[in-house]
Amino acid sequence: MSAVAATPQLELRGVTKRFGGVAAVDGVNFEVAKGDIVGIIGPNGAGKTTLLNCISGIHHLDSGDIRWEGASIAGMAPHRIANLGIGRTFQIVKPFGSMTARENVAIGALFGSAHMRRGMKQAFALADEVLELVGLKAKADQPVSALTIPDRKRLEVARAVATRPQLLLLDEVMAGLNNVEIDEALEMVRSVHATGVTVLLIEHVMRVIVGVCRRAIVLDSGRVLAEGEPEVVLRDERVIEAYLGERYAKRLKSS
Ligand SMILES: Nc1ncnc2c1ncn2[C@@H]1O[C@H](COP(=O)(O)OP(=O)(O)OP(=O)(O)O)[C@@H](O)[C@H]1O
Ligand SMILES: [Mg+2]
Repeated sequence: MSAVAATPQLELRGVTKRFGGVAAVDGVNFEVAKGDIVGIIGPNGAGKTTLLNCISGIHHLDSGDIRWEGASIAGMAPHRIANLGIGRTFQIVKPFGSMTARENVAIGALFGSAHMRRGMKQAFALADEVLELVGLKAKADQPVSALTIPDRKRLEVARAVATRPQLLLLDEVMAGLNNVEIDEALEMVRSVHATGVTVLLIEHVMRVIVGVCRRAIVLDSGRVLAEGEPEVVLRDERVIEAYLGERYAKRLKSS
């Protein structure tokens, strides 16, 4: 075994973000290795979206540091962080409604990582590739306003993937989907991950966390409550008490 640990792709040290004196994210530490797929779970208001907003530069930190491949990105503007290769989706989906799915994804391709700047033709070629990857190829020319909710979620992921991120941050892209749609979305996340993208995803659906994540981080009141393999974390008494509740615990015991 090598004694030299590789630099993590993403490293959070004491990350703290307050809103009016209340710490929404409170001294969070964790690392994500290149190629990993990590889930963030926790009750409503635990600070999950705020944490993603800190990583993507939407919020400035009150204290702590975020490092990307060893260099601090704390205080950088969101577009610069995106240029480094950190892409994201938003919990509230915001597509350009009158444009087609293909046009929406091409915009993502045009505003991608700095070293990937491309012209219109290449942007549309990449859009087609990404639409196929997320299972939206057949609906590429439909206006976004005509897409179903699951397809809009796919589109949101496609727009982020088209920026060619090295790390993709997904905020509840499976919320509101039925079981069949979740299975399809799981397949989509696996396909994106298989192209070499590191994934950090927020989800309330435990089947997703167990199904795709190698590691889960549980946030509660802005702090890391538990971290580890999903199956282990979901059996942790503190996690059951703070988040999963009795019914889930009984189901686990009887399974
Ligand atoms: N822009 C803001 N201004 C003030 N308070 C905020 C802001 N954004 C988040 N908060 C507060 O910070 C806390 C964490 O919110 P956050 O949205 O990060 O939670 P979450 O874990 O993503 O929840 P959910 O599962 O409901 O999406 C909450 O108390 C929320 O009200
Ligand atoms: Mg949220």
